[in-house]
Order: sequence, then structure tokens, then C-alpha cells
Amino acid sequence: MQRILVTGGCGFIGSNFVRHMISGDPGLSIVNVDKLTYAGNPENLQDIESDARYTFRHGDIGDRVFIDGVLGEGPVDAVVNFAAESHVDRSILDSGPFVQTNIVGTQVLMDACRKHQVPRYVQVSTDEVYGSLGDEGAFTEETPLAPNSPYSASKAAADLLVRGYHHTFGFPAVITRCSNNYGPYQFPEKLLPLFISNLLENKPVPVYGKGENVRDWIHVMDHCRGIEAALRNGQLGAVYNFGGRSEMRNIDLTRLLLKLLDRPESLIRYVQDRPGHDLRYAIDCTRAERELGWKPQVTFESGLRETIAWYVQHTEWVARIKSGEYTRYYDQQYGDRLSQS
Ligand code: NAD
Ligand code: TYD
Repeated sequence: MQRILVTGGCGFIGSNFVRHMISGDPGLSIVNVDKLTYAGNPENLQDIESDARYTFRHGDIGDRVFIDGVLGEGPVDAVVNFAAESHVDRSILDSGPFVQTNIVGTQVLMDACRKHQVPRYVQVSTDEVYGSLGDEGAFTEETPLAPNSPYSASKAAADLLVRGYHHTFGFPAVITRCSNNYGPYQFPEKLLPLFISNLLENKPVPVYGKGENVRDWIHVMDHCRGIEAALRNGQLGAVYNFGGRSEMRNIDLTRLLLKLLDRPESLIRYVQDRPGHDLRYAIDCTRAERELGWKPQVTFESGLRETIAWYVQHTEWVARIKSGEYTRYYDQQYGDRLSQS
């Protein structure tokens, strides 16, 4: 592969992926299309901005004319679609942007890829499309889709469109579905960066419900290696699950963070639960291991320590984010919850 187009490359996973690919493959150029929503931060790729193999295009994947123009600038060997509205709590506050970007944006992007005969397309999806598990079992690629939040419903709708395009037009797509990522450059609205950054400031951490919900944590670099494997070697039309085999209850994770940061239990606030809160996610990633030769390499313990160290070293990055639109969101999402806890 010589030239690929990545969307959403200024976000958390996209920026880690762009850096991983640029540093790992000297023959590769990357065009990054990003709308720079609240979650898109060009600072995340500051270190590679001046690399001649990297080009940034500011725009919306749902803008037909813009996407057509970018793909018309020269052939690409593949498109990897990270661009999305990605936070469940925001989708509960307003699902509009989720439908627009995650569903309509995917459709517009695929139409442009068809027009320009892009030979490969990777749709970066999530395990949340499978819904929620009880105490036992894990999602396989055959688990029926049963999304429970506006966010996961919009991602599932996009996955179904990708499937429909593959079946009807032979559209050359691969879908990846990954569990909860953590690592550097994650926007501090998601559990881990929110709790780490609050604890570093000695602020309380809002645990939804009783903290009994379970997530299967994977380091973002393991996810990026998985997407690269699917991009290079995935079978067209296939779905690949990625997960870290690191399940943990939110309350146990919160206590672990308190321990690692040497903060008191009194900073835990049990707040009103998220409506429709999925109880448990767990991923069976045997297909990716068997067919792509991929496996998670970062243990949760070492990855978590390294992530905490990154946030300790990047307090200014966090402070710049928390000083903007974030304050309004935080008040809307947590104001009443924290005052009632
Ligand atoms: P993020 O919110 O950190 O970043 C999203 C990026 O997309 C931002 O840079 C934003 O500016 C950009 N964007 C949003 N709307 C756009 C549009 N209309 N046009 C162009 N760019 C737009 O998200 P993330 O956590 O990095 O997630 C990336 C992808 O991975 C998403 O598709 C998400 O559903 C999926 N995913 C995330 C996780 C996770 O744990 N974070 C797990 C599995 C899958
Ligand atoms: P999150 O990081 O939002 O990811 P997702 O909902 O996509 O899994 O949340 C991870 C878990 O942490 C989830 O069970 C909800 C819970 N959570 C809290 O308890 N408090 C919070 O403030 C947030 C953001 C999440």
C-alpha cells in the first residue's frame, strides 16, 4: 500500500493509528480527513504534521462535494473510516449528530469510494453493536446485532449499510468491531481519561449506578495493530472482533485507579445510572487471532500504568480541552448527578 485515506484521524484512535502507520511503513502516505468536532484535536498529530507523507484535509465525511474532491486528488489504495460521534452519554443528550455522521457520513463516504473505485475500505466499528451480555459468554462475529444506545444503534446501522453495499455492489469492505479502548490522547469524557484527570486534580469521580458494569479493556495500540491487519489481510466482506481479554467491573477499575494514584476512596461518587446502561461487554477475538495472526500484546496492568503516566505528563493537553466546550458538557452531564450524590 502506498497511499491511504483515514477519516477521523485527529481523534483518539485515529491519531494513534496515523502515527503507528506513518512510523511503521516508510513507503506509506496518509491523507487525514477530519471535521474537527469537539473531539478532533490537530494537536494529537503535531509531531508528524511536517512529515511530507502526511496531508490533512479539514471537512465532513457527510459532505459529498468535499469527499469527492479529496478522493479526486489522486488514487488511494484504501479508506479507513474512524470518523464518528463516539460517546454514548452524548448520544443520549442528542442523537442527531450520531445519525448524521455515523450513518449518513458512512453512506456518503462509501458512495464516493465506489465512484473513485477505491479497492479497499475498512469500517471501524464497535462491540457495542452486539448489545449487552449477562454474566457469561462473549460476543463472536456471529452474535446478532442488538444495539441498546443511540450511539450503538447508529454504528450498527452503518455496519448494516456496509454489509448491504458489499452484498449488492461487491463493495470491497471489511468491518472491525473492538471493545473499550484506552491509552494516550483519549478525550477526557470516556471513563478512564475522565477519572484519571479528575483524580489528578483531586476531584470526585462519578461512578454510574453501583459500578457493577463490566467492560473488556484493550490498549489502543493493540486495536491499531488489529485494524492494520484487517486493512492489509482481512477478507473482503468479513467482520473481525478485537478485544483485550481484560474484563473488569467499573468499581474495581475505579478502586485500582485510586490505588495507583494514591487517592482516597472518599473521591468516589455513586451517581444516577446511565439510562439503558449495558451491563457487560466481552469479546471473543479468536477469528482475528486465527485468520489475521493478531493478538493483544499489552497487558492491562502495564498499559494502565503507562496511560496514567501519559496523562501525568500531559496535564496541559487535558487543561486545554477541559477549558473549552467541555465545561458546558460536564455541567450538563454531571451537574445534577453530582449534587444529588
Ligand atoms: P473520537 O471521538 O476520539 O474521535 C472521532 C474523530 O472523528 C474526531 O477527530 C472528530 O473530529 C472526527 N469526526 C467526527 N465527525 C466527523 C465528520 N462528520 N467528518 C469527519 N470527521 C469527523 O473517537 P474514537 O474513540 O477515536 O473512535 C474512533 C472510531 O472507533 C469511531 O468510529 C468509534 O465508533 C470506534 N470505536 C471506538 C472505541 C473506543 O473505545 N473509543 C471502541 C471501538 C470502536
Ligand atoms: P465509557 O468510557 O463511556 O465507554 P462505553 O459506555 O462506550 O463502554 O464508559 C465505560 C463504562 O464506565 C460504562 O459502563 C459507563 C461507565 N461510566 C461511569 O461509571 N461514569 C462515567 O462518568 C463515565 C463516562 C462512564
